[in-house]
Amino acid sequence: MARVFSGIQPSGDLHLGNLLGAIRNWTRMQHVDDTIFCIVDLHALTLRPDAERLQADTVRLAQTLIAAGLDPDVCTLFVQSHVSQHVELSWIMECTASYGELNRMTQFKDKSSRADFISAGLFTYPALQAADILLYDTDLVPVGDDQRQHVELTRDLAERFNRRYGDTFVVPEHVIPPTGARVMDLQAPHAKMSKSTGEAPGTIWIYDEPAVIEKKFKRAVTDSDADVRYDVAEKPGVSNLLSILGAATDHDPESLAGRYQQYGPLKADTAAAVIALLGPIQARFAELQSDPAETRRLLAVGAGKARAIAAPVAERVRTAVGLLPA
Ligand code: TRP
Repeated sequence: MARVFSGIQPSGDLHLGNLLGAIRNWTRMQHVDDTIFCIVDLHALTLRPDAERLQADTVRLAQTLIAAGLDPDVCTLFVQSHVSQHVELSWIMECTASYGELNRMTQFKDKSSRADFISAGLFTYPALQAADILLYDTDLVPVGDDQRQHVELTRDLAERFNRRYGDTFVVPEHVIPPTGARVMDLQAPHAKMSKSTGEAPGTIWIYDEPAVIEKKFKRAVTDSDADVRYDVAEKPGVSNLLSILGAATDHDPESLAGRYQQYGPLKADTAAAVIALLGPIQARFAELQSDPAETRRLLAVGAGKARAIAAPVAERVRTAVGLLPA
């Protein structure tokens, strides 16, 4: 069984793209591989979230992941800051990475160009991410394409460390979620559905009400040639609807295209499929929300499972680099 590790930031609610692109894939992998999923609250600190908000978002994200199908009895689900070895190994990764390679990270350039305060943590963010991954002898890291560079860096750091200090780390591989759908913005179908464009009606939030979902799909941008065809380059809006409908109903988008002559019914069916997909998740979430203490208990159990793996790896690293046993 492959060891799989992935992480997600507690920075507000998820949207349909997160669910269909990543989370649903995690829920499938948990039954196949040895999976560990981490709510990376320390990474969220790089952008200075409000303290109360961060705590609430952390619990809410755990509840969302469980509502979406992650089973804490099957996978390991935990909060990054609950396992202190992440911070410890992060420092050692900072001393393994060079200034130059961190400076080449495109996500840093992108985020720092938008931040009014550029914390050192924003710069060293990928070292913490490498620590997350390497602490668990991870084989596979399922994340989107935007994270490829961070996983490549993690591989480089693991290999460099192993050369310097002897075989210590498993060198992980990046995997693009195999069943993940690429969900685009309903108003700007050339761009990925995202949190930052989330104020606009182009993003479907996982807790949107049915009437809101219907309205957003009704207004989705298509094109003027009234031909239902799966053609991402020529017909991005229509293809996006077909992808979403396909992902929500487990059909391939090309074959679905043949069933429609007009955009109206395609939009209505896609909205209905998304409402049917989100309904049970929303109901389960409401149940979990009524008992936050139970969520905290599940996260404590998850942290215990994570620590049992991370602690011996961290010991291996301490010995390798020559830190004196306490
Ligand atoms: N940087 C990732 C993101 O923004 C989140 C993350 C943190 C992560 N640590 C990780 C992902 C470890 C995979 C593995 O999406």
